[in-house]
Formats: sequence, structure tokens, C-alpha cells
Amino acid sequence: MEEFPPRSALDPSKFGDQTSTITTDHIERNLDGISVQQALEDNRLYILDHHDHLIPFLDDINKLDDTFVYATRTLLFLTSDGTLRPIAIELSLPAHAASNNDDGIITGAVSKVYTPPPPTHVGGGVEVSLWQLAKAYVVVNDCGWHQLVSHWLNTHAVMEPFVIAANRQLSVVHPVHKLLQPHFRDTLTINALARQTLINAGGIFEKAFFHGHHALAMSAAVYKDTWNFTDQSLPDDLIKRGMAVADASCPGKVRLLVEDYPYAVDGLAVWSAIEQWVSNYCAIYYPTDQHLRDDAEVQAWWKEAREVGHGDIKDRPWWPEMTTVAALAKSCSTIIWITSALHAAVNFSQYPYGGFSPNRPMVSRRPVPERGTAEYAELEQRPDKVLIRTIAGQLRTLLGISLVEVLSRHSGDEVYLGQRDTPEWTSDASAKEAFRRFGDRLVGVEARIAEMNRDPRLRNSVGPARLPYTLLFPNTSDAGGGAAGLTAKGIPNSITI
Ligand SMILES: [Fe+2]
Repeated sequence: MEEFPPRSALDPSKFGDQTSTITTDHIERNLDGISVQQALEDNRLYILDHHDHLIPFLDDINKLDDTFVYATRTLLFLTSDGTLRPIAIELSLPAHAASNNDDGIITGAVSKVYTPPPPTHVGGGVEVSLWQLAKAYVVVNDCGWHQLVSHWLNTHAVMEPFVIAANRQLSVVHPVHKLLQPHFRDTLTINALARQTLINAGGIFEKAFFHGHHALAMSAAVYKDTWNFTDQSLPDDLIKRGMAVADASCPGKVRLLVEDYPYAVDGLAVWSAIEQWVSNYCAIYYPTDQHLRDDAEVQAWWKEAREVGHGDIKDRPWWPEMTTVAALAKSCSTIIWITSALHAAVNFSQYPYGGFSPNRPMVSRRPVPERGTAEYAELEQRPDKVLIRTIAGQLRTLLGISLVEVLSRHSGDEVYLGQRDTPEWTSDASAKEAFRRFGDRLVGVEARIAEMNRDPRLRNSVGPARLPYTLLFPNTSDAGGGAAGLTAKGIPNSITI
């Protein structure tokens, strides 16, 4: 976090003042003796911010049957043992002028801040129950964001234009087609299936993961307002999210602010291997930038992906111009990262980390009980019952969990990063040699991940549930289907589920 209290990027003329109401008093007692200013300067304050992208939709969402959702902000403190501790949760609803509550004009937010119960309350007390409820509302936001943005938008949807344009503009013997084709396997098929049963109107995403037709509306708004191709490379993504700073002396040229961050540590090793392989490969076919500029097929591929497939955002200034070999290598590395490692991390984690519904509820149905009401008395008496009644009902939960179980399974015929299903994919010895080195590096990454997951000092690699982080274990060395099923392990080449 760079500033406190957290600010909103929403237009004040449309949404009023949406600045957070979290104060120093709320959090300072949980900062292990340092001030808020010191925590900011030392990069020890982090935020999970689901406020701005939900406030514009909340009035409509909360008119739906059996649905009650807050926009949430969660502050986390980086403790001395390297773990992140949640220290405040703000639950917000849109505010309206008292004279007309139904005019659709938002004048600010009505917010409540919850903080962790003092240690004496652990094991009981209404503060414990309220804190647990607050965390459930945060996870509901996060679950919807994960499925609609991190998974569907940031991998499946944004890759489709690159796949279609490659199939239309690159001949099958073109070196860029040979480079990317394994990473496009089955993606159009799974996206077509998703349009039939998952993201369609009335489909499973609307029923189980988000709130009616707002599901795809939010995903589309995030795409149009904020998606940026160049931010999708892992180093750029980590910097943008405030998890790393640029540092040329570190792997991937970034220094992590949370050093024990398994997705980033493993991911940077995988990213570096991809980038080196793609750079070596491109250098074989493009000795100079002029060779690339003269390549009509690549130019047509990039132009169509940008101007037709991503036509709604074709004029954004961040689009790489396909005029240098470095731009081609970075763009192809980003595409391979998205289709392989990024998708593996966000897709195959869903059941292993979210299959127990109270741990990761997908929808909430009622507000936090107010003091003095019968619901509040019940929260004091039977907190687990109130939690279960607050999160999604049985049918929606079963639907959601069944889906994530299917999505999280590796098939037996998966082709993993660093593998090819056709050994004769190229006759160029230099390309084959570069690909062999890529595979060797990935096998080295496998050994390093296994070692880190055995290191008791790295508390986040295994976590309190003793579940080792293996989502970015490449599984290059396994050609026998050993990672098939619900293994939470292995990076397939492409988005196939
Ligand atoms: Fe997927």
C-alpha cells in the first residue's frame, strides 16, 4: 500500500466520496509496535481491494433474490515471520441521499470496519463470530473476482483473439506458429463449451459464482477499463499489484516485497525459463529487427489480434508495436505465460483450496446482524448456524463445488510445459537444442520447488493446512500422467479446461 487510508478511483461526481473509513485506531494495535507511517515506509501494509469494482453494481445485485453482498477492503500486515495477517475489514454499501433512496444516484458509501478479536476472545465471543462473518464476505468478493476476472477474463477470454488470428494469418510451417501452437491446443473448444453452459445468460457462473447478469457485466467492465496486455507478464503484474519493485539484479528483474510468496517465487523461475527459451528461439529466425518488420505473416497476425479480436481496445497506447525482435519475444513469452503457468495457477487451485465451502463461500445472502436484533442474539448463541445461513444455499453450493472439482482435474493426456506431443515439430537442430535447454531448466525448477516446500522457514509454501504449493511445479519430467486428477500440480502447455 502506498497511502493510508485507502482511496477510491471512482468518479466522485457519480459516486460521492468513496474514501475508506479505516482509521489508524483500527489497525495500529496490530502492527507489532510500529506506526502506520512506518509500516507504509517498510512495505508491510497490503490491501485486498474489492471496493471500486463492486460499488457501481451493488444496488442492483442486492435486489436479486437470496443475495446480499458488500464491497470489501481488507488490510493485511506483513509480520516478522513473513506471513500476512489480516488486521481490518471494511464492508461497504452504496449510500443515497436520505430524501430519495431509490433514485439510483450514489452519494457515497455506508461502511463498517471490523478488526480481529483481541487474543482473550479466541475460542468464543461475538467478536470472533463477527470477524469470521466479515472474512466470509471478503471471500465472496474474492471468489467472484477469481472466477470472472483472474480465470475467465485474464486467461480464457483474452487469449482467444491471439489464437484465432494465428490460425488465420500464420501458416503451419511458420516459426511463430510452431512456437505458439502447443499453447493454443483445445482453447477454442473449451471456450465454446463455456459459452454453452458456464458464462451464458442463466448459466452456472451467474448462478453459483456471481450475481445474475452482473457476472459478465463486471468482467466486461474490467476488460474495457483496466486490462492491459503488457501488464500480464509476471514481473510487470507483480510490480503493478505492489508486490515487487524493479531490480535488475534479481530473477525476472524484480525484487519481491513479500519474499516468501510461492506463486511469485516459483512463477518468476518459470517466467525466466520461458523468456530465455522464446528469446533464443526468436533469435534463430530473426537475426535483425528488419527481418521481423518484413515478415508479412507475423505483422498480419499481430494486427488482426489487436485490431479485430481486441478491437474495442485497439487504440490503447500500451499495445506493443511489432517492430523489434525484443517486442516479439516479450509478447510471445507473455502469451505462453498466460496460457500455461498463469492458467494453471488460477484454474487447478479451485477445488484444492476452495472445495470446502465455509472456507471459500461463493455467494452471500444476508447482511451482518445488527446489535439488538434477534439475528444478533442468534449469532451470539449459534455462530456456525448464522455463518452457514449467510453463505450460499445448498443447491448453489453443490453446483459451484461440482464445477470447480471438474475444472481442477488434470486429464491423463495433458502435455506439460517443456513437452511436445510431436517430437518432429521442427527439423531445425538449433531450435530443438534450445527447447531441450528449456526443458532442463524447468526440471531444475521442479527440484527447487520440492526443496522449498520442505523448508520449515518458508511458512507460506505449505501454510497452516500443510498443503504444499505445487501449482507452478512444471511437471516437465513426467510423461506418464502422474499428475492426472485432483493433484494441484503441473503446468499444462495450454488452456484446455
Ligand atoms: Fe480454465
